[in-house]
Amino acid sequence: MSVAKSLPHDAARLHVTGAARYVDDIPTPQGTLHLAFGLSTVAAGRITAMDLSAVADAPGVVRVLTADDLAHDCDVSPSNHDEPLLADGRVHYAGQPIFLVIATSHLAARKAAKLGRIEIAEETPILTIEAALAADARFEDGPRIYQKGEPDVALEDAPMRLSGRIEMGGQEHFYLEGQAAMALPQDNGDMVVHSSTQHPTEIQHKVAHAIGQPMHAVRVETRRMGGGFGGKESQGNALAVACAVAAMETGRCCKMRYDRDDDMIITGKRHDFRIDYTVGHDADGRIQAIEFTHYTRCGWAMDLSLPVADRAMLHSDNAYHLEHVRITSHRLRTNTQSATAYRGFGGPQGVLGIEKVMDHLAQELGLDPLAVRRANYYADNRKETSAGEAIDGREVPADAGDLASRGAPQASGDVSVPQSGGQTTPYHQPVTDCIINALTDRLADSADYQTRRAEIAKWNADQPVLKRGIAMTPVKFGISFTLTHLNQAGALVHVYQDGSIHLNHGGTEMGQGLFQKIAQVAASRFGVPLETVKITATDTGKVPNTSATAASSGSDLNGMAVQNACDTIRGRIAAHLAERYGCAAGDVTFEGGMVQAGSERISFAAAAASAYENRISLSSTGFYKTPDIEWDRIAGRGRPFFYFAYGAACTEVVIDTLTGENRILRTDILHDAGSSLNPALDIGQVEGGYVQGAGWLTTEELVWDDKGSLRTHAPSTYKIPACSDRPDVFNVALWDEPNPAQTIYRSKAVGEPPFMLGISAFMALSDAVSACGPAYGDLQAPATAEGVLRAVQKARG
Ligand code: MTE
Ligand code: MOS
Repeated sequence: MSVAKSLPHDAARLHVTGAARYVDDIPTPQGTLHLAFGLSTVAAGRITAMDLSAVADAPGVVRVLTADDLAHDCDVSPSNHDEPLLADGRVHYAGQPIFLVIATSHLAARKAAKLGRIEIAEETPILTIEAALAADARFEDGPRIYQKGEPDVALEDAPMRLSGRIEMGGQEHFYLEGQAAMALPQDNGDMVVHSSTQHPTEIQHKVAHAIGQPMHAVRVETRRMGGGFGGKESQGNALAVACAVAAMETGRCCKMRYDRDDDMIITGKRHDFRIDYTVGHDADGRIQAIEFTHYTRCGWAMDLSLPVADRAMLHSDNAYHLEHVRITSHRLRTNTQSATAYRGFGGPQGVLGIEKVMDHLAQELGLDPLAVRRANYYADNRKETSAGEAIDGREVPADAGDLASRGAPQASGDVSVPQSGGQTTPYHQPVTDCIINALTDRLADSADYQTRRAEIAKWNADQPVLKRGIAMTPVKFGISFTLTHLNQAGALVHVYQDGSIHLNHGGTEMGQGLFQKIAQVAASRFGVPLETVKITATDTGKVPNTSATAASSGSDLNGMAVQNACDTIRGRIAAHLAERYGCAAGDVTFEGGMVQAGSERISFAAAAASAYENRISLSSTGFYKTPDIEWDRIAGRGRPFFYFAYGAACTEVVIDTLTGENRILRTDILHDAGSSLNPALDIGQVEGGYVQGAGWLTTEELVWDDKGSLRTHAPSTYKIPACSDRPDVFNVALWDEPNPAQTIYRSKAVGEPPFMLGISAFMALSDAVSACGPAYGDLQAPATAEGVLRAVQKARG
């Protein structure tokens, strides 16, 4: 079986040799034109005059378009219809596209785009959370509030109380491949679009609108992205729409890619947050009541900000059981880039809120932060049961994995979902699959947490300048799109008469290894070697109405849809062979590239040929929708998530108390990927997620000046982790137990949850700061060298 094997990424060889083809590498037809946007340098104001004559006269320029030249409504928002492709009278942030240059080369377009003379009656921009609050600039009428229990009464009754705040910065996605799109005009105004997007259907939808055609006139293809990280869920719309509009205008192929600086200046990033908290607790740090207020800086347009802010609220408990809790969320409008999806989708911000509370409580009470965390954990309640018991008291339906009879990597019977232990999340969902205590125990053991903590304390007592710190933090992350209808997927599988298999599904490949995992599923269903399966580009003409590859649900959703399609074809082949060889269809098995039918044994290729000759269809679509999820996002009640993914990380750091500079010395991680479809790829996701999360909270700092211009718009000023910033010692292991929920081969989603393991690096820095003096250093994020130095000074009092 191909599943559960540690196979490399399907394009690993192409990636490392530079041969993998991205949008910008696709050979272009003769006469292809290139696009660039002219950008606003002003953050807020009214356009009073535009002189684009120098742009039009520049070498190589074919056309220049403004909002007035657009034949159709060219909105590029994924949610609210509030993002005109080109500014229509007003500008809302420095970096907003105002006009579009169409030229004969990429460089000619970019050079010309600098020549526009735009006059803007400037207004005072709203740039900060405080300014937005003062102006009451927000995306919903008022704050959203989720509540459980009686937080006011319980806060009043608690023996001790603590209040504080954490401010956390945004984050640039820094995908290696920048945003890119290409549109090829077809007969009758139809359009083929190549786009570096996590969401081909959204590109199709937006392009169709922009050229005034039904969706059937547009076909979008995406073979791969050089990273997306959420930054290509909606931010590719503008390029694809621009290319399609320009292709309609000129009748020629049009292509656009952002230069890195433009990419950083134009596109949205992770939302920065301020979280205020008041917690009622006892002397052991046990939380009795808690109140969070989230302030989310959304930027100028709505984009995905509402579900991002929702997910932050939904993760304000992280792995902790909160009995009395209120979370208030303000979604604030500012004159900055429209903040967007970024790995974790608000979850990391919510989690950092409560992890800061744990850190603050421990330091205030003089306790081991891990002890405080453990004292507040949800109880483990994922029961081990003897093999053979049905899962959750139900038969496993054939279309949901068919595990019992055919090949889950671990027998399905060995787990069961217990009845709720009575513990619910702040949004009233029972937690029934918790393993965080056992997982923490195992990691504390393998990372030698207690011994090292004692050693570090001793070392710190002797060292005047360098201080070390250690921290262990948990993750519990909810899996499913919170917009429930998005939890569906389709697939299209063809078996050819030579037994080779053509695989397509709605997911996109951005480096996470989704295509390989899904190919492993298909190969396993037919019992054929992986090479038999051809992975093909995502294509809206093959699988329609797809959701973005996001919310970590790519393999959960598409894996099930592909399994469904494969099993349909397999069932037809089995019925045919059963008839031919006179056995029961149930006795036809597929394994090792062979098909066994009664006493007959033929190759899979021969079975396919036989089915073809007997006029049996060897092609099928597949479909899947996640069961059992339903919730009310306004009330904050119900079951938004199918299950939770868990993990924990232990990080040790050292800081230089004279400069604030710091390094990660060692990291140990234990992460729950269920029965992993591919442990090598999953460990890659865990390592990458951790490093990206640690980068968010340490070196990555976005700086806007007081006019609203982003000053950190290149790697020279915006520092992502380099290879040398990887922990010197980096031990990553998977908690390899099947998912109690009925997912594809009992695996768990793994794309986003490990990002939050990076929080342990931040908390280790806070621990090192606490060794510098008696006061709480109150480290804020990102903990740049300056930030650490500030906290050290505060700790010294
Ligand atoms: N890994 C790589 N290498 N590149 C990426 O762009 N995106 C992350 C995560 N891991 C990303 C990645 C994000 S934001 C998500 S939602 C998931 O992958 C999406 O893929 P999946 O659903 O197949 O896990
Ligand atoms: Mo990921 S932020 O859900 O694309």
